[in-house]
Amino acid sequence: MNILLVGSGGREHAILQKLRENPEVETVYVLPGNGGMAGEGTCVDIAAKDVPSIVDFAKTHPVDFAVVAPDDPLVLGAVDALNAVGIPCFGPTQKAAMIEGSKVFAKQLMKKYGIPTARYEVFTDLKAALQYVETCPIPTVVKADGLALGKGVIIAQTRQEARDALRSMMEDKVFGQAGSQVVIEEFLTGPEVSVLSFTDGETLVPMVSSMDHKRALDGDRGLNTGGMGTVAPNPYYTPEIAQTCMDTIFLPTIRAMKAEGRPFRGCLYFGLMLTADGPKVIEYNCRFGDPETQVVLPLLESDLLTIMKATAEGKLAESEVKWRDGNACCVVLASRGYPTKYEKGFSLTLPKTKENEYIYVAGAAMEDGVLKTNGGRVVGAAVVADTLESAIAGAYDLAGRIHFDNAYCRSDIGQRALAAGKGGNR
Ligand code: AMP
Ligand code: GLY
Repeated sequence: MNILLVGSGGREHAILQKLRENPEVETVYVLPGNGGMAGEGTCVDIAAKDVPSIVDFAKTHPVDFAVVAPDDPLVLGAVDALNAVGIPCFGPTQKAAMIEGSKVFAKQLMKKYGIPTARYEVFTDLKAALQYVETCPIPTVVKADGLALGKGVIIAQTRQEARDALRSMMEDKVFGQAGSQVVIEEFLTGPEVSVLSFTDGETLVPMVSSMDHKRALDGDRGLNTGGMGTVAPNPYYTPEIAQTCMDTIFLPTIRAMKAEGRPFRGCLYFGLMLTADGPKVIEYNCRFGDPETQVVLPLLESDLLTIMKATAEGKLAESEVKWRDGNACCVVLASRGYPTKYEKGFSLTLPKTKENEYIYVAGAAMEDGVLKTNGGRVVGAAVVADTLESAIAGAYDLAGRIHFDNAYCRSDIGQRALAAGKGGNR
């Protein structure tokens, strides 16, 4: 069984390692992958966004199944294009990927079907948007409609920040077409929870909940990043809250997508905020989260490929999805300066992993047989242990055995979860 996996980061490395646990898996072609995956996958120099080349490759190689991990190719219709040449795929169609591809679409879907989310207004006209922010409550949240590399959300603490955000999105077009429509929404507060799920459009199976740490610096300070670390499960996500989410958010969302003629098959990611008024949707993603995947998949006991195939075939209800007990923590090692300015090209040495340790390389290239850093987020160190405390300690121990110049990580990944788990910090 040969698999084609689209993507290149730590998330894709975690998917690759999990797929490899199935003994039937022979070659995994990773497009484009990264230097840290060599040995486990066959990296092919085709960009994740280059859908025509991905399809050409799939047609000319023995590919039995494809997994499309990143948002861009999904929103560009990679799954439709691969299906059209007869290759079964894990991932939503272009029409279903719209749930992430357009924030306006997602907000209107939630409004139409009564799914709890922040109140909002949509603007296509800068003047009208500027007028609105003169009177709306502050802080307020300004979001570009389309994909913006995770940077299209501005939490405006003042009216001036809101005006600046609108001008840069709608006038200066810093996110291109993604900013020609904006959503201005109510600022919500509460703990955040990420819930990834497998869904075939009828059945939805939530994965273990997780907590991301998006800010660059300790204490949730500094700029927003792609994610500096994660823990799973998320202690704020109690069984009662999980049931409420299933009844008021998860199932209503997949039913809504089906009713709209956009049945969702793949991994649907719910970014939730647990507000005083109950759980609300902050965002949907049409894919696995990064670095959530790096703590969720190590806790998956069942075979990932079997679940992915069942999802693609609409047979998820027949599939067993079992989770290990215990906790996972992933610490991301980045190059100092990330997410703004950072250097690349440092030699990267990776230690041998022990049981329950996982190294997920996000940004590295093989140059003349030497692994060198080539991204802002370089590598994730993930550990599964019986308790959250030991998972955190283990992840930092593993991170400490990974070496490259100018390595930087947050020192408090999991601390908030730890405090919450002990009854504090709500
Ligand atoms: P997103 O790119 O949609 O994940 O948003 C990035 C981050 O902005 C989220 O993880 C939240 O921390 C924050 N955020 C987004 N929308 C809101 C909101 N309505 N209220 C408060 N914070 C928000
Ligand atoms: N970790 C957040 C995301 O993948 O969008």
